[in-house]
Amino acid sequence: MQSVFLLFLCIMKKILVVYYTQTGQLKSAIDATLKPFENNNDYQITYQEIKTKTPYPYPWSYMEFFDIFPETVQGVPCELEPFSFNPNEHYDLVVIGYQPWFLSICVPINSFLQTKEAEQVLKNKNVATLIACRNMWLGGQEKMKAHLKRLQANLVGNITFVDKSANLVSLVTVLAFVLKGVKEKFLGIFPKYGVSNKDLHDAPKFGEVIKQHLATNDFTNQQIELHKLGAINIRGNLLLMEGRGRALFPHYAKFITKKGPQGSKERKSRVRTFGIVLPTGILLLSPIITILSRLAPLLMKSKFKKEVDYYSQNSLR
Ligand SMILES: Cc1cc2nc3c(=O)[nH]c(=O)nc-3n(C[C@H](O)[C@H](O)[C@H](O)COP(=O)(O)O)c2cc1C
Repeated sequence: MQSVFLLFLCIMKKILVVYYTQTGQLKSAIDATLKPFENNNDYQITYQEIKTKTPYPYPWSYMEFFDIFPETVQGVPCELEPFSFNPNEHYDLVVIGYQPWFLSICVPINSFLQTKEAEQVLKNKNVATLIACRNMWLGGQEKMKAHLKRLQANLVGNITFVDKSANLVSLVTVLAFVLKGVKEKFLGIFPKYGVSNKDLHDAPKFGEVIKQHLATNDFTNQQIELHKLGAINIRGNLLLMEGRGRALFPHYAKFITKKGPQGSKERKSRVRTFGIVLPTGILLLSPIITILSRLAPLLMKSKFKKEVDYYSQNSLR
């Protein structure tokens, strides 16, 4: 009897899901993706929600929202609540669910990645990332790849959920969502912010792929299969726009932190200016970049394709 139990334990696959969510969108995407594992004794899933010692506000005030920008971009960690998972346990797969903030990894998950426990639990482990955001995740995922490389983890999958509205529309709705807490149609005319119900409904197809690869512990082609099913959302105009933002953000973050630490009144005017410049910049650049992005695949076909291919896979250049 005991040997049967031990055999069962050996066959049973263990998954650790580490995630952060403010309003629950990310958790809905995780639940939808992992549906094929529900009520299945062959899998043991441990959930670790990351909680910050001082919770971030929701909705955010204008100043709080833009004041977190420099520390997010610079990867400054914050204090976290203790974890309940055992970092010394073996997991067949670790799923990290996160949102990008300001084209970088959100502070809570970035803080987790800098802990001793992350170092212990991620070393030599297979990791899949799951992102639910507005539409700009490339920069955050590049930083994630760098962290995972440092932690000697093996990134074997990336699944992205985005708001599929036009960029300027989701710019308005995300600001209403984070700054005003608007979770339904903003002003009755804009669509509801976030990942669509249809995308959540279809998400178990990604879980099925993960399940098949977990069964053999061979994740070689997992990302290719996930990609074929639509796990990677990249739009040309956003690729170009993110590129501009990622080049400029570290400079502006430095410019703000020169005045003082997070929350200090000395940096308030620079934070306020950033809060005006960023949405205005997106608003003005959006049409130009959309035109450029339509031309880019024609004028620089192979370079453009190379970029899209690069962001669709999991290694770091
Ligand atoms: C401070 C902050 C910055 C954000 N920056 C980005 C971003 O750069 N790219 C993006 O696609 N979404 C961005 N978002 C939207 C989030 O990715 C996410 O959609 C939203 O926070 C809701 O997620 P949750 O319900 O899981 O908390 C940002 C949100 C916040 C709060």
